[in-house]
Amino acid sequence: MPTPDPKHSQTFVALGVTFADQVHSLFAGLRTRFDSEAAAVTDESSWKGLRDAWLGRKSGVLTLVTDNWLKPSSPELKRVVGASLNELRAHVDAQIEARRTSIEAGAEASARVKDRVDLSLPGVHRPIGSHHLIRQVFQDIEDIFSSIGFSVVEGPEIETPYYNFEALNIPEYHPVRDDMDTFYLDLPNGAPGPLLLRTHTSPVQIHTMEKCQPPVRVIVPGKVYRRDNPDATHSFMFHQIEGLAVDSDITFCDFTGTIDYFVRQFFGEGVKARFRPSYFPFTEPSVEFDASCIFCGGTGTAKAGGACGKCKGAGWIELFGAGMVDPAVYGFVNYDPKKVSGFAFGIGIDRLAMLKYGIDDIQVFFQNDVRFLRQFP
Ligand code: PHE
Repeated sequence: MPTPDPKHSQTFVALGVTFADQVHSLFAGLRTRFDSEAAAVTDESSWKGLRDAWLGRKSGVLTLVTDNWLKPSSPELKRVVGASLNELRAHVDAQIEARRTSIEAGAEASARVKDRVDLSLPGVHRPIGSHHLIRQVFQDIEDIFSSIGFSVVEGPEIETPYYNFEALNIPEYHPVRDDMDTFYLDLPNGAPGPLLLRTHTSPVQIHTMEKCQPPVRVIVPGKVYRRDNPDATHSFMFHQIEGLAVDSDITFCDFTGTIDYFVRQFFGEGVKARFRPSYFPFTEPSVEFDASCIFCGGTGTAKAGGACGKCKGAGWIELFGAGMVDPAVYGFVNYDPKKVSGFAFGIGIDRLAMLKYGIDDIQVFFQNDVRFLRQFP
């Protein structure tokens, strides 16, 4: 059975409408129908359907009402139809606008739910690096010496032979220069030189004393270079901390007391320090400091029996060179050797770190293998 044409597609003649009352009830019917269709609108596409069905220029309900009811109606009814149509149009316009606003708000609200940051989710993991073990050991040593009044200074890695050797009482013919297989720089013709990569941090002793009058108490962390072939205990670049204390009344006792304090702070209270005579051109007397072996507790015997592998049964491990500053050095920096005295030491950091952390190959410091680095977060 064909669906009957809706009433707004038919004229009043076809519908048999002649009275104003009939007009009112026709419009009331349309309005009810519009309201129920509007109520069913839930999203943008059904809203567009509603708008086109009612406001469409060619075949929307209001256009059909205009064409079929208003235009052909008798002059007596035209006023009533016109007024009712205006009223209906205002209602339809307002409702369609209201539905649009509420659908947009709803869409926004649901988009907000979708995009909301879920704070309970685990965050993006951004790995944070840590200080290299060498840097950590530097820091530990700096902290220990800072706590007893030393300040931290630095110096250049490229030096003149004067600072690296001569001012440290190592004249050109001195055989000790042979110990330091030095890297000299290839300089362009005519450039002032020679220049070299410092073989130790001791030249910073000279720089410091040139700049400051006593009392001087400094430590100098830094890189040093020697023409060594790489193996488990050698590297062409390694790290030192130089120490220098000069004042009017510094004794050998102050010197050994300071070193003793450092060794206990660094390795632990139970560790003892001892010194043996040694030789450096810029210290007199010169000593070599040893610490009681931290692996066998200074007994020389391994826990499992037999000689301790780390100290080779000696009970002592060689730590670093030091001594009272040779008066000849003061001559180079215009200090009066009769009025001042002091001590100096030069600690090999890589070696110290290897001892403290049981590392048996210096090369791991420079390979940057994260499996090694991560063990020292
Ligand atoms: N500069 C010496 C070296 O590198 C160590 C040292 C420093 C010794 C200060 C005595 C005093 O071997």
